[in-house]
Amino acid sequence: MRRAWAAVWRFVELWSWVAVHSCKELWQWAVPRCAAALRRARLRAPFAPALREAIRLRFEATTREDPLTGARLWSPRGRTHIFAMATGVLITVVAAAVVLAVSAFSGPSGDSLAARAPSSTVATVSPPPNTILTSDFEDGSAQDWVAGAGAKIKGTTAAAHTGRHSLQVTRRGNGQQGAWHNLQGKLSPDAGYTLTTWVRLTGNGPATSLRMTVSWGWASAVQDDVVATVEANGATWARLEAQYSPVTAVDLLSVRVEPAGGAADFLLDDFTVTQHAPPPRSVPALREIFAGSFDVGAAISTQQATGPEADLVKRQFGSVTPTAAMKWTATEPRPGEFTFGDSDKIVNFATSNGMKIRGHTLVWHNQTPDWVFTDDNGQPMTPTPQNKALLLARMSDHIRTLVERYRGKITAWDVVNEVINDDGTLRQSRWYQIAGLDYIRTAFTVAHAADPAAKLCINDVNLTGPSRRDAMYDLVADLLAEGVPVDCIGSQTHVNISVPSPAALAASIEKFAKLGVDQQITEMDMSVYTDNTSSYPTVPPGLLAQQAAQYKALFAVLLRYRDQISSVTFWGVADNQTWLSTYPIPRVDAPLLFGTDLAPKPAFWAIVANPG
Ligand code: G3I
Repeated sequence: MRRAWAAVWRFVELWSWVAVHSCKELWQWAVPRCAAALRRARLRAPFAPALREAIRLRFEATTREDPLTGARLWSPRGRTHIFAMATGVLITVVAAAVVLAVSAFSGPSGDSLAARAPSSTVATVSPPPNTILTSDFEDGSAQDWVAGAGAKIKGTTAAAHTGRHSLQVTRRGNGQQGAWHNLQGKLSPDAGYTLTTWVRLTGNGPATSLRMTVSWGWASAVQDDVVATVEANGATWARLEAQYSPVTAVDLLSVRVEPAGGAADFLLDDFTVTQHAPPPRSVPALREIFAGSFDVGAAISTQQATGPEADLVKRQFGSVTPTAAMKWTATEPRPGEFTFGDSDKIVNFATSNGMKIRGHTLVWHNQTPDWVFTDDNGQPMTPTPQNKALLLARMSDHIRTLVERYRGKITAWDVVNEVINDDGTLRQSRWYQIAGLDYIRTAFTVAHAADPAAKLCINDVNLTGPSRRDAMYDLVADLLAEGVPVDCIGSQTHVNISVPSPAALAASIEKFAKLGVDQQITEMDMSVYTDNTSSYPTVPPGLLAQQAAQYKALFAVLLRYRDQISSVTFWGVADNQTWLSTYPIPRVDAPLLFGTDLAPKPAFWAIVANPG
């Protein structure tokens, strides 16, 4: 720093000397000539004598006569005087030069650009109100922009939308990214934003589409949304602009600008993000969003077939499953005494609102009255041929009665439910103990005869775990080989915010796909707990964000395998009513897409935004 100041000082000294010397020469040359000119002009004006006298006095005050040559030389006082004058002149000249240089180098002003450029490319020079982020690159740097994979970026003066600088983005080739800007922590889900930037190709290549992409989500699930596209060329600046409102709190949020394809290099300038009130957001319907992929359903009780929850079900879902109304205890509590009040209510609700119905469930180790397993002597059945025949006859009668009653209305039945243990062995239920695998064979055969059009499913929990998954695969493979009419595997999908991994879900779908049967997600929900003991008084928002990420990631898998999956049913409508509020312990849980107030949760927005 000291060396720099010394250099500056030497520069000033030199210039002062040059200036003083020049002025001295000028003075010596000009004064006698001026005096002579004045004399020659013979000025008659009243001030002429006084002026002549003033010049003479000034001349004599600042010079002295050389006694040897008689020439006029500088007097010491005159030197000081002329030095002061020269310094003043120098400062004035330097200041004027600086002003001229700045205005010459700062390029066209916004107004002059506006006059030259087509009106569609005229930018507002001062940022609009509520601007929360800007990049004008006028400091010559890339500011907060970062090169994407395979790209290089730098500040440039090659061209600018306003000012002198822009950002130059050069790319290695097709498919490479452009430049991106981190937005994480800068945008809130409670506000709306306008993202604007100006782009122009470098060089005069053919016009190319440049696009703006918002990348959002969580490490486990990142979503790319192309929010704006514009045709860019090398002659004019084109505007990329998008309205954007984050659907939920996320861990990752950034904006990217790059060609939609091809290897074009480009310039980017005047990036702004302005904030405004969020646009009124209409809630899309799951049934429509996923219409091209699979049915989306909800399990409901009879109470949920009326009132505000029924309205939500009608808006959102294309299919319903009764949570309990079709189970054996509800439909045949005593031998041959069928009660269809509750199940009819749900079937009528669904059919009158154009929804499909999944029947749940014909044969289960739970919710089956004791009389079913009581022998003719009023004793609990033991595994004898007579008891097996009696049990299968009761089961067949029950299945036939239900399936025939709803033939043509129920599109899919969970014929048998939860027949495999976690370790892959067959569940030792009373059904199995008394009838062996014949209860499964008979159940499917009878159901098929009662409604050949209904899809018949074998339904189970935790089919993403390898043991149960592989056991299910083997069981269905055997049943199919025997000609048992199994049409589909129902995967309950009661998951939590960490488990299973998307890869595990994909692996189970891929495995079952080899069997050639339909697959249905029959009871999906997602606990915010990952153990059986924790309990929150209210669910922390961070867990709802994590839940959104996990739902998004799992739905991405379901969508990827949409050809294998015909329906996805949630086990409940909203968090106000869920079996997880009592299981495995009483606690507040929030496993569904709608909150206790029936409003969409982050998980809902996560899966409906650009589902792919
Ligand atoms: O509707 C009656 C109500 O009128 C009565 O006052 C009340 C008294 O207890 O009972 C209500 O019925 C309850 C019903 O849920 C309401 O939907 C039953 O008692 C209760 O046993 C029943 O629990 C259901 C459970 O299966 C047993 O059927 C849960 O809702 C249901 O979510 C659960 O679902 C199972 C699937 O079938 C299989 N997979 C696991 C899943 C969760 O456990």
